[in-house]
Amino acid sequence: MKERLEQIKADALAQIQAADIPSKLNDVRIKFLGKKGEMTAVLKGMKDVAPEDRPVVGQLVNETRTAIETALEESKTTMEKRIREEKLRTEVIDVTLPSKKAVLGHRHPNTIALEEVERIFVGMGYEVVEGPEVEYDLYNFEKLNIPADHPAKDEQDTFYINKNIVLRTQTSPVQARVMEQGKLPIRMIAPGRVFRSDEVDATHSPSFHQIEGLVIDKNISFADLKGTLEVFAKELFGPETKTKFRPHHFPFTEPSAEVDVTCFKCGGKGCRFCKGSGWIEILGCGMVHPHVLEMCGIDPQEYTGFAFGVGLERIALLKYEIDDMRLLYENDIRFLKQF
Ligand code: DAH
Repeated sequence: MKERLEQIKADALAQIQAADIPSKLNDVRIKFLGKKGEMTAVLKGMKDVAPEDRPVVGQLVNETRTAIETALEESKTTMEKRIREEKLRTEVIDVTLPSKKAVLGHRHPNTIALEEVERIFVGMGYEVVEGPEVEYDLYNFEKLNIPADHPAKDEQDTFYINKNIVLRTQTSPVQARVMEQGKLPIRMIAPGRVFRSDEVDATHSPSFHQIEGLVIDKNISFADLKGTLEVFAKELFGPETKTKFRPHHFPFTEPSAEVDVTCFKCGGKGCRFCKGSGWIEILGCGMVHPHVLEMCGIDPQEYTGFAFGVGLERIALLKYEIDDMRLLYENDIRFLKQF
């Protein structure tokens, strides 16, 4: 047994010496120390050793095992050191090579315009909320005072998913969703994507963006609406900007209005940009219809409020004097970089 162990040790050490790569060292480990290795075989043979000799032989077995393990470990360390040094010597990094510049993206004009609008309203204490793009007919129309056969439904060429579900044609359904939650007062804007079955041209797209606004509290009047939108227009288009409220009709507001701002290009004198009128239309608004308040669980005797809806692309086109909406969707980096 003693000779056998010495033989094993000598073989193992010789093979460890001969190994030049880590995988070969591992082969040696398996061959001698593995489950089916030589040392395991020796251990199995212990039962044939006379009981009085066992302690001595046992110690020898342990010594042999430790010797092999230590040799393996040492060899591994020197091998790794050698490989690392070799690598340092051969892999030279040329620090004088010109670096590859990271290509920086650019914010889209829509995003810039949205952040500007958000900044203005957040500054007035509004919360920014979101609603789903795939919406129930109930919220997109019904709760906004547009019942099944109302002609206003025809104005918005709707993509229907089924009889009850649509791609929202406006961000106004977020009004109903927020009111329904029952937390009052409300002061929110809701930006988001809307969809209409429209042909693409310079001013239309089947998918565009709106920003909805809603304020509900006690004693909110049309004066609050006017004051708020005046501040908004001045912040967005400059302090000289004047606003004009023209009567209009929206089913979910009463009274309703469309808002024009003085042309920021000519200051109101009339130019090519405002088609000679001096005014540019920017949004729809009004006092929230009492029936809408009721349908959304708010007592119109106690609370009143106003709402407005702005087209985001319209703001971006006006602010950056872009004359074709399609440019906003092509995402040509040469175009986007200009803003
Ligand atoms: N939702 C309307 C549209 O898409 C815009 C609008 C008008 C929103 C008046 C409002 C509002 O909140 O009060 O044409």
